[in-house]
Amino acid sequence: MCPTSFTMGTKGNIENILPLSGSGHFVPLVVVLVGLPARGKTVLAHKLERYLNWNGHQTRVFSVSSYRKKHESQLFKSRDIMCPIDSKTAEIRNAYIHEAINDTQRWLNVGGDIAILDGTHPTFEIRQLLHDFFVKQLSYKILFIECILDDAKLIEENIKETAQLSEDYRHLEFSTAVNEINEKIDMFSSVYKPICPRSESSYSYIKFNNAGENINVRRLDGPYQTKVLGFVSCFRPIRKTLYFSRHGESEYNLLGRIGGDTSLSARGKHYASLLANYFNSAKVDYLRVWTSEKKRTKQTAEGIQAPIENLIPLNELDAGICEGMSYEEMQDKFPQEFAWRDQDKLRYRYPWGESYLDIMSRLEPVLLELEREDSVLVISHQAVLRCIIGYFLNSDPEKLPYLNVPLHTVIKLTTKGYDFEVEYIKFNVDCVNTYRKQPEVCTKSVHENI
Ligand code: F6P
Repeated sequence: MCPTSFTMGTKGNIENILPLSGSGHFVPLVVVLVGLPARGKTVLAHKLERYLNWNGHQTRVFSVSSYRKKHESQLFKSRDIMCPIDSKTAEIRNAYIHEAINDTQRWLNVGGDIAILDGTHPTFEIRQLLHDFFVKQLSYKILFIECILDDAKLIEENIKETAQLSEDYRHLEFSTAVNEINEKIDMFSSVYKPICPRSESSYSYIKFNNAGENINVRRLDGPYQTKVLGFVSCFRPIRKTLYFSRHGESEYNLLGRIGGDTSLSARGKHYASLLANYFNSAKVDYLRVWTSEKKRTKQTAEGIQAPIENLIPLNELDAGICEGMSYEEMQDKFPQEFAWRDQDKLRYRYPWGESYLDIMSRLEPVLLELEREDSVLVISHQAVLRCIIGYFLNSDPEKLPYLNVPLHTVIKLTTKGYDFEVEYIKFNVDCVNTYRKQPEVCTKSVHENI
């Protein structure tokens, strides 16, 4: 067993590429995760990445363990990587940490905004190395997020989940994987020093305690760090299931008209009653229902025995001067607007109305709330649900306006690590199809423009 004193060599092969100047970006930020294995760092890293990209900040996770893996064949056992007294392992540690740093720097240098280094970074020396390089040498910003977890049950759940889902362990028998993770935890525990509020007081950091029960924050600096804090303070790494449904078919859906505030059609009412039966008999613990403020979503939720809230941000895309029209009428009356929308549906804003980008930004508080909630059924509309489901499934924003969210279908998302498993539960009630494909000629012109 290795003794507990530990130093990380600071000599290394860090490339010195000067940061881009005048790119119009804020100063790049490096978010560095800190903490023992199975404390939820990877889940947090990837969810934060998804959230920041959604907000238009180019963000990427760099997994230190994937760099370490390339060198593991040189070790007797992978867990020996943290052995502090062996010069061979110190050399290997240096090599992979510097590879991770170099790739991070390279990516930030070509236009990335925020890089997230997902790893244990267990000692003062490693954190100082990162700080000296990114802050002192490159004038970037660095924010440490330390995941601290002392709830034995949660740690055990995390170990099991890592053994089942992580790339590092999937190839092993479950019990072998669990043993390896436990050995790794022991090894890192022997060197791990939590961020010290005295000796590391000059750093910006967030301590994320017991899965978000409380957090401590120090010296936040700049808009990216404020954005990160906003997410971290809402985030709860719980296993959960969320349900989504469009309202039942409406009178306007039957007529092929968009927007408005009409009631459900007879078939829409039938769907609402089946939906209520489904949830009332499923007896989902602590189910809550969120609808928009439109009649059709409220009517769809009516029979469900659960607390119901009506939220304005869940209202459908405002089609401005085109509200209440069919797509054909729109094309006749406003051919130029119609063509522009087909060319770039994500950014196109209806005159006196909204774009998909507008909905994405008004949905932010709802998404943050859903990040901490379990067992919520959201009953909303086609465009809004495309944005919410697209967020959780990490869809390319360009593809969001064309996601298929059919009527009379419940879409169930269940957490699987930092991803979600999707289930479509189709109800047997006929309805119109409101999906309009992007015309092919427009697909071409959009790609040419990009
Ligand atoms: O057609 C139903 C509807 O919810 C309309 O009210 C809304 O304008 C439209 O879907 C949004 O879908 P798209 O962006 O594909 O036009």
